[in-house]
Amino acid sequence: MNQPVLRTSLEEAIASLEGIRVSQNERLSLHTSMGVGGPARWFIVVDDRASLVPLINLLNSRSIRWMMLGGGSNTLFSDEGFNGAVLHPGQGFRSIEMVPGNPQCVRAGAAANVGAIMQFAKRRGLEGLEFCAGIPGTLGGALAGNAGAGGHDICSATESVEVLNGDGTSRERKRGEFQFRYRWCELRDEVILGATLALTPDSREAIEERIQSHLAKRLEQPVGDRSSGCMFKNPPGEYAGRLIDRAGLKGLTVGGISVSHAHANFMINDGSGTAAQIRELMELVRQRVLQSTGVSLEAEVRFIHPPS
Ligand code: EPU
Repeated sequence: MNQPVLRTSLEEAIASLEGIRVSQNERLSLHTSMGVGGPARWFIVVDDRASLVPLINLLNSRSIRWMMLGGGSNTLFSDEGFNGAVLHPGQGFRSIEMVPGNPQCVRAGAAANVGAIMQFAKRRGLEGLEFCAGIPGTLGGALAGNAGAGGHDICSATESVEVLNGDGTSRERKRGEFQFRYRWCELRDEVILGATLALTPDSREAIEERIQSHLAKRLEQPVGDRSSGCMFKNPPGEYAGRLIDRAGLKGLTVGGISVSHAHANFMINDGSGTAAQIRELMELVRQRVLQSTGVSLEAEVRFIHPPS
């Protein structure tokens, strides 16, 4: 007699969870601002917060590799894609609200857009996030890479970050209890659920003025093009953009990827570029800057490699 089938397919098991949308072989180029990356075996949008833990348990029980992806503005997948599940926090992680009883703290979910949080704070006369003006991406992604501009960064503005524990509960990691530095945060490999941001009262006019000045700075950058923002971290006491510019590398091209003429630390995809070309161009830039200045540039963008 045939044994009953005990194992349902992953798709069936996922379908039993609330607020989850799954697509198979989804092109990751559609979910990254640079527009490169092969297919994800599963691309899973998690709208219902309560379904995240059972989903992760399910993936773990079947030894399926998984990772979280926010706005995709600082992450580069390979052209082979991701042979596992890419989890994308959706609707249930987009809340932005005042912390009850604390008029200077804003709490937001991991999928909330950083610009939207800044605007929310401005309307309530709270300053501290103006540097986020023009930064694309979600709060979760911004915290994972400690995004920033003009000497400010998002981790410094946090009161606490809510992360998922292995047993499905969550905990608050207070600022001071986790480490971060320029474009790096210890929480980058944790599942970030949201954060509370500690802000300071100021007039809306003064806040708006600072937002406009940050936005004006953005106009020096190739906004509107397919890019991942700055590709390299600024080395101590220097600027990667200035070093690349001085090495005469603006316009240097590999396939569909070029060093931007507007800002040398940006690379632009003309729509035909690949992840391999980005890596090749980054290596070329790194070598040329090293030869001409002796400085070895370190990538700011995060590469997700296929398992070897
Ligand atoms: N510079 C050049 N040529 C260029 C670009 C810049 O000579 O092509 C010079 C500028 O003239 C300036 C210096 O380099 O003297 C620094 O340039 P900029 O003011 O544009 O700042 P940045 O350090 O290149 C940083 C962040 C940006 C952020 C801007 C604006 C890093 C790696 N980059 O850029 O963040 O938008 O400040 O505040 O920290 C990102 O991280 O993805 C990003 C875009």
